[in-house]
Amino acid sequence: MKPVHVGLLGLGTVGGGTFTVLARNAEEIARRAGRPIRVSVAADTNLARAREITNGACRITEDAFAVVEDPEVDVVVELIGGYGIARDLVRQAIENGKHVVTANKALLAVHGNEIFAAAREKGVTVAFEAAVAGGIPIIKALREGLAANRIEWVAGIINGTTNFILSEMRDKALPFADVLAEAQRLGYAEADPTFDIEGIDAAHKATLMAAIAFGIPIQFDKAYVEGITKLEAVDIKYAEQLGYRIKLLGITRRRADGVELRVHPTLVPARRLIANVEGAMNAVLVKADAVGATLYYGKGAGAEPTASAVIADLVDVARTAATDPHNRVPHLAFQPDQLHDLSVLPIAEARTSFYLRLTVEDKPGVLADITRILADQEISIDAMLQREPNEGEGETDIIILTHECREKQAETAIHGIEALAAVRGNVIRLRLESLQ
Ligand code: HSE
Repeated sequence: MKPVHVGLLGLGTVGGGTFTVLARNAEEIARRAGRPIRVSVAADTNLARAREITNGACRITEDAFAVVEDPEVDVVVELIGGYGIARDLVRQAIENGKHVVTANKALLAVHGNEIFAAAREKGVTVAFEAAVAGGIPIIKALREGLAANRIEWVAGIINGTTNFILSEMRDKALPFADVLAEAQRLGYAEADPTFDIEGIDAAHKATLMAAIAFGIPIQFDKAYVEGITKLEAVDIKYAEQLGYRIKLLGITRRRADGVELRVHPTLVPARRLIANVEGAMNAVLVKADAVGATLYYGKGAGAEPTASAVIADLVDVARTAATDPHNRVPHLAFQPDQLHDLSVLPIAEARTSFYLRLTVEDKPGVLADITRILADQEISIDAMLQREPNEGEGETDIIILTHECREKQAETAIHGIEALAAVRGNVIRLRLESLQ
């Protein structure tokens, strides 16, 4: 059977892993795909590295544009990343009638609608399993495995770097900066680590999952994004005392009036499986009406785990390239003319529970004033913790967990509480999800 010819763009961590796994498992992969999948040409700006990885098994070039123009290439695998040259290469590959496999979540979260429209016009596939949660086949699960369901919400630990940082801070009481340096050394972090720690990488991935889960266009600009840089170790400790772990979650939830799409540090009950996902591991919890809750766990980054997803897409392309282009699995799961214009809600309309930490003067009536303000906003208290004040200190920390309310109610209450004379400084506010 005629092989599928691949043009590989980028031989970094994931590109190198893809080359290695394709070579190592060539026979098994061909048995699955129905024909061999062969890298014909690989492009990298570092030719010495390219030579070392490919070892004469394929052509190499510094010119990525030559690959997308190469008549022998059936599928372009884009593993360069970013919105710059990668966007031009993907657009040109589609224009030239080539299928595309990419791990580039940033590109798809920002330009996905335009890229998928171009691909539909040309009758080619753009596959992106590796863009979300690395080796975990979450795109396939949402798009195909759960196709019978009305999906209610998706909550995921979808950035290994931040999960590693939070785990190390909690377990070893290490400072943020030291753990970040270690994550970079281990190769988990993005080229620009602010994408990890400010929640942007997780928001790219959550945006793609929201589109596929609910059949809406990709709307990264509407996502609420809050990273872990302002998180304080003391809140990790108090959360633990109350039976919670803090995780950076990407959450998307269908509501009657729209879709919530948000990334932020979140208190999660410690007894939930997802709360026990530690280190650089990823996990995605999906709640759907027919199947209930399903949890997907695995490595969200790294050479071979991500290569596993890239190659699964290559096998899909090999299997479906010959089928009717109008009946392929749609890029965003739903038929393109069936996407809903259900709006992504502003964060003020999101509904969640809250963890509030405030430092107050230790005197009568303070708690009564605080609970009155919460009651005025119809916010119900779920649990409370008061640190024993140190001798002669005159002030103490109060931690309040609320029941679910709208973000704007919480904001109003927080402003009211901060205005009380007995309250020192700002109220620390974290969101909490029971994930039931
Ligand atoms: N920087 C990402 C992470 C890698 O830490 O999970 C894969 O997207």
